[in-house]
Amino acid sequence: MLLASAPPIKASPGFYSWPRTWPERQLLLERQHDRLEGLLADLLTLHGPEAPDWTAAQARACDGACRRLLWDLRLHLRLEARWLQAEGCLCPGHRAAHADAARAAFTAFCGSAGDRQARCAWLRDLRAWFTAHRAGPDASAYAAADAITATTDPVATAISGSQS
Ligand SMILES: [Fe+2]
Repeated sequence: MLLASAPPIKASPGFYSWPRTWPERQLLLERQHDRLEGLLADLLTLHGPEAPDWTAAQARACDGACRRLLWDLRLHLRLEARWLQAEGCLCPGHRAAHADAARAAFTAFCGSAGDRQARCAWLRDLRAWFTAHRAGPDASAYAAADAITATTDPVATAISGSQS
């Protein structure tokens, strides 16, 4: 049983410390988005009705993978909130959406323990929320942070000033 479509996040050469600028942070957040979407897709395939029955060891592995997904999601949401807050681009609704989603995901995760169909439904619901959230509040907040960075970045300001 492999989770093949979720490649680990590898640091680029010279990129070993936490990113300090919004463009670097955005790049890492988007990589996390991609990785989480990959994990969700893999786990949905494994939990789907077309997948073969599991052995006890495979069931434990799937439960552990779901637990890891939940952990990674919560870390991602906290990191994203911290970095958007630093750019002044985290509105109260976005923060509340993270908290509500994390709470709901944890509750439903616990409620689906030992039930493959219920866990599959949990994964579907989580993917639906994640996809919509990425395309909605995240996209808006990232665009706002991009705009702020563009107006405060001295290089970008100098370039735009020389063109007018
Ligand atoms: Fe978000």
